[in-house]
Amino acid sequence: MGVTLWEERLSEKHLSEKKIIQPVTAPQSDGNPDQQGWETLQNEVLNCYQCSLAKLRRHVVFGAGDRRARWMLVGEAPGAQEDKEGLPFVGRAGHLLNAILMAMGLSRQEVYIANVLKCRPPGNRDPLGEECRLCLPFLHQQLRLLQPAIILAMGRFAAQALLKTTDPISELRGRQHIFAETGTPLLVTYHPAYLLRSPLQKRKVWSDLQLALRIEARLE
Ligand code: URA
Repeated sequence: MGVTLWEERLSEKHLSEKKIIQPVTAPQSDGNPDQQGWETLQNEVLNCYQCSLAKLRRHVVFGAGDRRARWMLVGEAPGAQEDKEGLPFVGRAGHLLNAILMAMGLSRQEVYIANVLKCRPPGNRDPLGEECRLCLPFLHQQLRLLQPAIILAMGRFAAQALLKTTDPISELRGRQHIFAETGTPLLVTYHPAYLLRSPLQKRKVWSDLQLALRIEARLE
């Protein structure tokens, strides 16, 4: 599948479809995910009041998807729509993410999606270092429970948080990294919200995704 086809799939026609594919949140029975571990973690996150974002949130956005997924997609933090619904990537960037997944031959039901921060920063400001320090252990626990074959970090913030680096995203994308905590291959690409603002970067994203797909296929 080349860039053209992908771009066709990400055309305005596609993105204007208002149909939101709801992620699976129900526990899966096959493949034996540690359901007890997931439930314990989810309760802990839903009852977290460690930082001031807790006072402002409508919903904690824990994460959603298949708890046996090979793909873990990591974003930055919930936005307004995610805060309203309690689910990750259900706003405009989420619609684009659905299209990206479709172009990869995946659906939301087959992957797991989470953010570094589980609560919305006010006015969609950048997460603060302290918020990240307090929230990141939850994402690490999600990664330990899921044990994905591959991690896709979307955007600078997720990439830098997971790789513990301050390197710019332009230097992090386009090559394989390893998430040190679990030894899992990790790829970095631009955030769908950035793509909405800078559609010319779709080519680079498609190249990152092709690399990620090749790496994931080798791991089967
Ligand atoms: N942007 C993110 O990083 N995460 C979401 O869940 C929504 C938008």
